[in-house]
Amino acid sequence: MTDTDIKKGLAGVVVDHTAISKVNAETNSLLYRGYPVQELAANCSFEEVAYLLWNGELPAQDQLVVFTDTEKTCRELDPAVKAIIDALPAGTHPMDVCRTATSVLGARHQLAEDSSSEANLKKATDLWAAMPAVVAYDQRRRRGQAVVEPRDDLGYSANFLWMTFGEEPVEDVVQAFDVSMILYAEHSFNASTFTARVVTSTLSDLHSAVTGAIGALKGPLHGGANEAVMHTFDEIGIRQEESLEEAAARTKAWMEDALAQKKKVMGFGHRVYKHGDSRVPTMKAALDKMIAHYGRPEILGLYNGLERAMDEAKAINPNLDYATGPTYHLMGFDTLAFTPIFVASRITGWTAHIMEQAAANSLIRPLSAYNGQEQRSI
Ligand code: COA
Repeated sequence: MTDTDIKKGLAGVVVDHTAISKVNAETNSLLYRGYPVQELAANCSFEEVAYLLWNGELPAQDQLVVFTDTEKTCRELDPAVKAIIDALPAGTHPMDVCRTATSVLGARHQLAEDSSSEANLKKATDLWAAMPAVVAYDQRRRRGQAVVEPRDDLGYSANFLWMTFGEEPVEDVVQAFDVSMILYAEHSFNASTFTARVVTSTLSDLHSAVTGAIGALKGPLHGGANEAVMHTFDEIGIRQEESLEEAAARTKAWMEDALAQKKKVMGFGHRVYKHGDSRVPTMKAALDKMIAHYGRPEILGLYNGLERAMDEAKAINPNLDYATGPTYHLMGFDTLAFTPIFVASRITGWTAHIMEQAAANSLIRPLSAYNGQEQRSI
């Protein structure tokens, strides 16, 4: 085996078929079950998109009613999960909280050892419905605030915001959040989804696969980038009194310095999209609305300035995390909560892949080229 036979990082390797989403880097497009993600973001709710990912078709009105009613019955924070979160150290990373909660919910699920397609769909729906309570409670616990009970008169995103902040969110904010949830929901064989498929391929259960996926998503080269973007903004300094132009002017020097130190600037670049992330324009439009809503032009200054500086220096485009980070910040989420929000959304895509993998399974087990010691004796 030569070095050229080794596909480090599996770059460029096609490992299976999928009917869930199509990422086309050449045409800069992303389809969920055939629908462009931009169209879904403009016309559908996150609940409809979740249904689409799991069932292959958008729901009819009566199907949507049954589906959302089911979701609403699973929104409460399980007392056992609350007790375990409370037992974790105060500084526990929220992704570890999500991972632990997923594990507990799996162990406690009435269908824990059933991995039939019906059981998996039920488990997927239950976990998706339960995750906002986990993310919301974790942020509230950090702030010394009590649990907020879910409201069944609100949709998924509005209820997520309600449980986090204890205030009824305004429609523009709900919409921007919903768009982010739709855009984060699915993205073919990325690292966390592939992790979920690898775990599933051993005939392990859905919660184990999602637990593994959460671990993969935590890393800053994947989902953790949305948090890291905010750290960049913080490092440059968010000055609320600044104009857009003043804020932008301070970004160039920061970028030059970061690149001179050969740093990877989080929120830029993508393994698949080399001419721009197809989801960014839609999310940037949502961010623009939030900047106007909250009256924070300096955030736009930092955003535009860094984007321009990166373009001039390396012609690398921003990815979805670059636009979601500041959006969640404006909404009032702790930076630590950004990747857990991504979890709540991506549970839909992960579990769709888990069900697809299980339906046509083959154990995922690649080969390696040994480069250790020659055979020797003790
Ligand atoms: N900042 C600075 N340089 C970057 C960069 C970034 N964010 N992303 C890529 N590059 C540069 C690399 O340094 C490399 O330059 P070189 O050829 O001069 O060494 C070149 O672009 C290719 O990068 P590489 O890391 O090989 O690309 P990849 O396809 O393996 O990596 C990512 C893709 C996403 C891992 C990478 O772009 C990255 O680390 N981005 C930041 C993390 C992030 O935002 N992740 C979320 C992804 S949705």
